[in-house]
Amino acid sequence: MLSIRLENLSFCYQQGTPFEKTALRNITLTIEPGTFLGVAGLSGAGKTTLLRHLSGFLRPTSGRITFDGLPVDAHGARDLRRRVGLVFQHPEDQLFEETVYKDIAFGLSGAGVSPEEAAERVREALEAVGLGEELLERSPFGLSGGEKRRVAIAGVMVMKPSVLVLDEPSVGLDPRGRGEILDHIARMRRKRGVTVVLATHDMEQMARYAEKVVVLKGGSIVSEGTPREVFRDAGALESAGLEPPRITRLMMKLKKALPDIDDGIGTVEEAAEEIKRVYRGKGCGWRRHDTRHAHGQICSRQFDSSPVGPEDEDTAGGRLYDACISC
Ligand SMILES: Nc1ncnc2c1ncn2[C@@H]1O[C@H](COP(=O)(O)OP(=O)(O)OP(=O)(O)O)[C@@H](O)[C@H]1O
Ligand SMILES: [Mg+2]
Repeated sequence: MLSIRLENLSFCYQQGTPFEKTALRNITLTIEPGTFLGVAGLSGAGKTTLLRHLSGFLRPTSGRITFDGLPVDAHGARDLRRRVGLVFQHPEDQLFEETVYKDIAFGLSGAGVSPEEAAERVREALEAVGLGEELLERSPFGLSGGEKRRVAIAGVMVMKPSVLVLDEPSVGLDPRGRGEILDHIARMRRKRGVTVVLATHDMEQMARYAEKVVVLKGGSIVSEGTPREVFRDAGALESAGLEPPRITRLMMKLKKALPDIDDGIGTVEEAAEEIKRVYRGKGCGWRRHDTRHAHGQICSRQFDSSPVGPEDEDTAGGRLYDACISC
């Protein structure tokens, strides 16, 4: 377990040259062990630069980053990279061995792991990314893009890092592949208590997997909190060029009619539960119309607590509502 703290961290590429570029500005952030942190932001917002600090690949230009309260050098940069596994953006570009097995096991050479243990760990990592053992003796270059991506992720997982840092791991994968990789990672996190840091501009992924989200814009944090808090902070999200998930936008519209509803919800499953919660025992929340003939809308669902007037009794058990969304 490793806790990571960034204090007023700023980073400038090519400082002192005409190409100087400030990529991070005064970032203060704590990543507690076991958290799933999402880092959101448009292209160029600073996600990759932030993630590279987390595994000691970059050092701050000003401010500091500590791991369990100590700077990178106190841990040793090499040792730290073992504990914080970074899956680069387009990790498949880094495959280079003759076989998938050798590529996944590469990091274990020199780590004092016996061949038996290495074989066991490679199999576990392969399973964790949802690939079959039949791939182990194949060349990584003959795999599909999605398979290569999974092999590259397995090569980081095999080191059993305390913190897994993923830089847009699902970009370019088909929708099923995207969900599968993150589902595998979420399962591994639950099993081993690993901290996960995921950079993405996909807010649906944030809603589904992250416990905490930071939104970057021009190298600064413009919003942070739980996914629900961040989605509700619509102004900040919009200023960062992002949009909440589609289901959140629907919940925001519903809130105009149903003030009780939680409009920060970001997954369809949670939205279904929330809509049920709001309706349960309450009737549908829409005021009945005096005459059904005015709108002709008949709610076919029964709500025990909603009042029924004698005028409804000839509608075969139906009740009258104005644009009832349950129907
Ligand atoms: N090696 C570099 N030299 C100079 N500037 C750089 C370098 N790498 C990145 N930058 C600049 O730093 C800023 C942040 O880049 P970064 O790669 O961290 O963004 P990002 O949020 O990861 O974007 P993307 O979603 O496209 O991957 C950008 O303006 C980028 O142009
Ligand atoms: Mg990037």
